[in-house]
Amino acid sequence: MSNITLHTLTARKQAGEKFAVLTAYDSCFAHLVSEAGNEMILVGDSLGMVLQGNDSTLPVSVEEMAYHTACVARGNQGSMIMADLPFMSYATPAQAMENAAALMAAGAHIIKIEGTAWLAETISLLAERGIPACAHLGLTPQAVNKLGGYKVQGRDRESARQMIEDAVLLEQSGASMLLLECVPSLLAREVTEAVDIPVIGIGAGSDTDAQVLVLHDMLGLTPGRRPKFVKNFMEENDTVQDALKAYADAVRDGTFPGPEHGFE
Ligand code: KIV
Ligand code: NA
Repeated sequence: MSNITLHTLTARKQAGEKFAVLTAYDSCFAHLVSEAGNEMILVGDSLGMVLQGNDSTLPVSVEEMAYHTACVARGNQGSMIMADLPFMSYATPAQAMENAAALMAAGAHIIKIEGTAWLAETISLLAERGIPACAHLGLTPQAVNKLGGYKVQGRDRESARQMIEDAVLLEQSGASMLLLECVPSLLAREVTEAVDIPVIGIGAGSDTDAQVLVLHDMLGLTPGRRPKFVKNFMEENDTVQDALKAYADAVRDGTFPGPEHGFE
């Protein structure tokens, strides 16, 4: 596969073609995810839960994110690598510059930050300095204590209207992508139509420009209850390689997610 860039993925949105994203945290899985045709790899701070066994993403450090990003970069076969700035590493624009630079130097092609309109200044400064950013809206797990749990966001009219406004503002501020987590499918569609930059969804229905899942969830490896928006691709496939390819194909042809994976 040739190298996927921001340009490739923005053109996909314009052409109405979907793309597939999966998390990976190490070289071996990065190789497999990329080789299977997934356009992006997310080095998510979900590694704090999936790999480190914490009950939230809050304990993850920039050093740990840089380490895993470097591991992923070595295994990657041409996908675009997005890395999460962890909790409190972008509390000020100056911190965001320094910590985003560390992740880019480790091999990320774009960084992701969680927040709303307050991210505008940070995103604009990053963009001016050549660092593309994806703004993560909706359920933002680093704010779990403020949100009072892992709950669907944007369910009432006022917060839905606010999310669309924030999305447009962040695009105008220079965001290169958006990610929507756990928002009603109809609202995700409205946000996706309101901006020209690609919108990645998780628990956001089938009308976003792309989908992401946590790798260990879609391989059926995560202990405990499976969230509504997850599908275990190992149920219909014999090998990890086939499951990763089936996911990429299902996202691109629109068969995943189905209506049963979304929120009203
Ligand atoms: O950290 C992560 O894996 C994420 C996805 C769930 C979107 O941010
Ligand atoms: Na994350």
